[in-house]
Amino acid sequence: MAKIIVVTSGKGGVGKTTSAAAIATGLALRGNKTVVIDFDVGLRNLDLIMGCERRVVYDLVNVIQGDAGLNQAMIRDKRVENLHILPASQTRDKDALTSEGVEKILDALTEDFDFIICDSPAGIERGAQLAMYFADEAVVVTNPEVSSVRDSDRILGLLSSKTRRAEQNRDPVKEHLLITRYNPSRVDGGDMLNLDDICEILAIDLIGLIPESEAVLRASNQGIPVTHDQKSDAGQAYTDTVSRLLGETVPLRFHEYQKKGLLSRVFGGGRR
Ligand SMILES: Nc1ncnc2c1ncn2[C@@H]1O[C@H](COP(=O)(O)OP(=O)(O)O)[C@@H](O)[C@H]1O
Ligand SMILES: [Mg+2]
Repeated sequence: MAKIIVVTSGKGGVGKTTSAAAIATGLALRGNKTVVIDFDVGLRNLDLIMGCERRVVYDLVNVIQGDAGLNQAMIRDKRVENLHILPASQTRDKDALTSEGVEKILDALTEDFDFIICDSPAGIERGAQLAMYFADEAVVVTNPEVSSVRDSDRILGLLSSKTRRAEQNRDPVKEHLLITRYNPSRVDGGDMLNLDDICEILAIDLIGLIPESEAVLRASNQGIPVTHDQKSDAGQAYTDTVSRLLGETVPLRFHEYQKKGLLSRVFGGGRR
């Protein structure tokens, strides 16, 4: 039985797709059979981040509408064994995604896979609710800004009321906080909320902290999830996050502002 994990946030542009791609890659690199599904009908950018956009023939909506089988639509990752991508459709018809259709797909995948990662669209409307509805766990992606924290709080409300687990009175969806685009120097300067404040407001388990990093932009331009860039701070932070998702205890990194010492200022180096 696969574990279904939704990557969600409420607010757009906080790093959901980046995180879904990086986490799915990390889980597969650790030997877990993983599929990552793009629920962002109309936008479709998971395939770009995963670097497989030219290989998309069929998509999620084609499978739901019976125009293609799951195996025709799923794309095998070219770098990591055990990793598959189910792309979103570019249709404008957001109603093409039905609850019955999504359930059927997840039921079919759950036998074969260890993890199903659902990349949610922004907002709290239908698309986002469908992405979270069947989840066992949720990674709530939050930036250190008031508006992002507020939207994440709203999503926590939905997770505890509008999911299958909530409706069936089962154990609640396990909620994890993933803080992304964290910039310790701006936090120190008072421009951004700090780690402790975010954790206190949202009051859920912190699964990871991803620093603001040029490596993320580089990775998305190349279509290679940043987890592959283990020299980068963001790549290492996602690897730590995956370890915690797998139940390991890993100390938090990249949350403190490190003033550069004279030597590193003269000779360069330090974190990228
Ligand atoms: N840790 C990070 N450091 C720097 N830029 C990031 C980071 N995470 C995400 N981004 C950038 O933020 C933008 C939105 O990311 P994306 O993953 O598409 O967000 P969402 O799926 O929530 O809309 C992208 O341009 C992405 O490259
Ligand atoms: Mg996205």
